[in-house]
Amino acid sequence: MTIFGTRPEAIKMFPVIKEIETNPNMVSSVVVTGQHREMLQQVLNIFHIHPDYNLDIMEKKQTLSKITSKVILGLDQILEKEQPDLILVHGDTTTTMAASLSAFYHQIPIGHVEAGLRTWDKYSPFPEEINRVITDDMADLYFAPTQLSKDNLLKEHHDANKIYITGNTAVDALKYTIQANYTHEVLTQIPRGHKMILLTMHRRENQGQPMRNVFKAIKDVVMANPKIDIVYPVHLSPRVQEIAHEAFDNVDNVHLIEPLDVIDFHNMAANSYFIMTDSGGVQQEEAPSLNKPVLVLRTSTERPEGVRAGTLKIVGTQTGNVKLAMEELLNSPKKYQAMSNAKNPYGDGYAAKRIIKACQEYLGEQESVQ
Ligand code: UD1
Ligand code: UDP
Repeated sequence: MTIFGTRPEAIKMFPVIKEIETNPNMVSSVVVTGQHREMLQQVLNIFHIHPDYNLDIMEKKQTLSKITSKVILGLDQILEKEQPDLILVHGDTTTTMAASLSAFYHQIPIGHVEAGLRTWDKYSPFPEEINRVITDDMADLYFAPTQLSKDNLLKEHHDANKIYITGNTAVDALKYTIQANYTHEVLTQIPRGHKMILLTMHRRENQGQPMRNVFKAIKDVVMANPKIDIVYPVHLSPRVQEIAHEAFDNVDNVHLIEPLDVIDFHNMAANSYFIMTDSGGVQQEEAPSLNKPVLVLRTSTERPEGVRAGTLKIVGTQTGNVKLAMEELLNSPKKYQAMSNAKNPYGDGYAAKRIIKACQEYLGEQESVQ
């Protein structure tokens, strides 16, 4: 049983679901919590995922406590009735943590996809760092995208025999989305010869002044460089919408658009000059696969592999630093080339296959014990 609730989890679980569906020894059951509504539905529609259950919990400006309690209560009956042999969760959202707790209460084994990412800073990102630590405490199988994430799990004394290095399923998902000769209405509005920068920013810890600081930097750079266009698909969080529109509504060359579906987003990323984001890392995994430099609008990252490989640069949220980093990429072809040609450290597109192979072995072992 796969359980997820937000846009990025759905995108990165899709290759895993596909793999389960084609495995003759497995039956797939998909449960969505509905922590996201429209943004989740976009992914379900595009990838033709038909959930068996949808808890539909989303509320406007929902709190972490509400999400947690609704997921746990909602899953109770489903787990009781379905008694899955294994549940798979992804990443570090509150759905991930609460679904794992629910599975633990029902004594159902848990496989954690994208396990072992750490910043070692409890409030950065908030609440994701602690969500993933708690999830790993309860998990029985760990699908670590890289050697470093495996090392993190070993530092916490998780069983080495239960940790598999798989690569990240975000790289698998790109195989389904990237199109040659892609176009989109917003791209047709950008004059030839302009550079397009793709922006996303939504994290809880950035909502407020950090976001305003970054938007000020972007505004200054765009005003000084008329041949740059920013495309910003704005997350539906009301707090994010408010700050984005306040900053950019009257700025030429900044295109605020609705969240894109994943095919559009991946192709928009492929057509960008570079990407600026505070995303939990999907862009940080997608962008290296697409050879696009990324300016990370956060002060820490759980993906230092990308920084070491040279594809990511942590720029934080101070106006001066963000401006400097943008100007460097725009004005120094050498620096731009170095970042875009870095080797992708996040896998080869076969993570889901490795994950399901490991699940099958685990389930086989369980069967022989019983
Ligand atoms: C959540 C995850 C975060 C992940 C992000 C991906 C937690 C605590 N946070 O943050 O780790 O990076 O998803 O996007 O699990 N909303 C809508 N429609 C939607 C989705 C959201 O209207 O389809 C609005 C609602 O008002 C909702 C608000 O956005 O209350 C915030 O959603 P929530 O899931 O709580 O937080 P995110 O910032 O999306
Ligand atoms: N994404 C999308 N449409 C958008 C913006 C992002 O489909 O308008 C995709 C993107 O390709 C990535 C994922 O959503 O796979 C990232 O989700 P988000 O930024 O919401 O979450 P995070 O990565 O921060 O957890």
